[in-house]
Amino acid sequence: MAYLNDNYLKLKAGYLFPEIARRVKAFCDANPEAAKRLIRCGIGDVTEPLPSAIVAAMHKAVDEMAERSTFRGYGPEQGYEFLRRAIAENDFRAHGLEVADDEVFVSDGAKCDTANILDILGSRNRIAVMDPVYPVYVDTNVMAGHTGTAREDGTFEGLVYLPCTVENGFVADLPNQPVDLVYLCFPNNPTGAVATRDRLKAWVEYALKHGTILLFDAAYEAFISEADIPHSIYEIPGARECAIEFRSFSKNAGFTGTRCAYTVVPKTVLAKTSSGEQRSVHPLWLRRSTTKFNGVSYPIQRAAEAVYSPDGKAQCRALIEHYMGNARILCDAVKSAGLSVFGGVNAPYIWVQAPKGMTSWQMFDRILSEAAIVITPGSGFGSKGEGYFRISAFNSRANAEEAARRLKESKW
Ligand code: MLT
Repeated sequence: MAYLNDNYLKLKAGYLFPEIARRVKAFCDANPEAAKRLIRCGIGDVTEPLPSAIVAAMHKAVDEMAERSTFRGYGPEQGYEFLRRAIAENDFRAHGLEVADDEVFVSDGAKCDTANILDILGSRNRIAVMDPVYPVYVDTNVMAGHTGTAREDGTFEGLVYLPCTVENGFVADLPNQPVDLVYLCFPNNPTGAVATRDRLKAWVEYALKHGTILLFDAAYEAFISEADIPHSIYEIPGARECAIEFRSFSKNAGFTGTRCAYTVVPKTVLAKTSSGEQRSVHPLWLRRSTTKFNGVSYPIQRAAEAVYSPDGKAQCRALIEHYMGNARILCDAVKSAGLSVFGGVNAPYIWVQAPKGMTSWQMFDRILSEAAIVITPGSGFGSKGEGYFRISAFNSRANAEEAARRLKESKW
């Protein structure tokens, strides 16, 4: 009989969001009237239609696929030149940041990329994650056999957890031991916290000192509203020697269902072989991409390219302003209900402290049953998320206003 990957058995039964969906379905089946009023502020999934400039580019590309003379089969696995150039030019070089076109790898999601990057990194690395944390970073390391078993509080043996608390403004302090890989996510999912230039500078200095690679997830950078908060790790001198950055079109351009993202792997990021020789990770990621991936479809890459057209830029900005308008409405409501609120200023996530003595899942049940609103329990993001819950601002304005009204009126 074949053997399975035992590491999967170390994981909790369900990934967080399917688990929430399961509980919400049970609630709706048992309460059909409440189900009609249900407002979903759980998973960070966009609600607004794709901007028209993006849709037009996608249509045009579909038409090209219908003509023999413009039809395309397999594309370059790492992305078409036109999109890699548009990304490098608009997201980096236009801001004075050095990123070459061939350091950009187009993919179908930042979630996949933050998981797949482990393919090219060794199994002996000491790995640090923030707590609370986007669960994918932890679960994929468990799957890859990089951890021991789960402890009582849900943390895994073998990982270094960096607590993110009110005291440190939900921005992890540097580890007090050397680690080889660190996952950083700013603006942060789930807390909505951002790291200042000085905090990121300290991380880059740490990484350069210890030969650490920073896996920098910037999927929410477009939501930054405060001046002088870095949008990219490459704004920090030295980051090209130690950081890989993940970005996505999911949230800024509404691509959660369309699927397109990218990862920047500078050729100057090095790691060592088992025999101690230093090598660039870039060729390995290229090798992985060309072997295991056939690229994002042509119409979707044309759609992503349109994000950078003048109309696309204006329409994506309007989308972001729409969601951040929701965030303000929801933040105000939760504050006026007397709860402590974080995030929601530079990120579409609002991180709320549950009333004293209530666990995250108790709060989830209570908000679901009393207000028919789905939130995400903070403990689903890690032990330090216990006692918190996350509200997603991805919604229609009408739903955000109605959710705000219900949250304000409830006696928490
Ligand atoms: C979330 O709700 O945390 C996100 O939607 C997850 C994701 O982007 O994969």
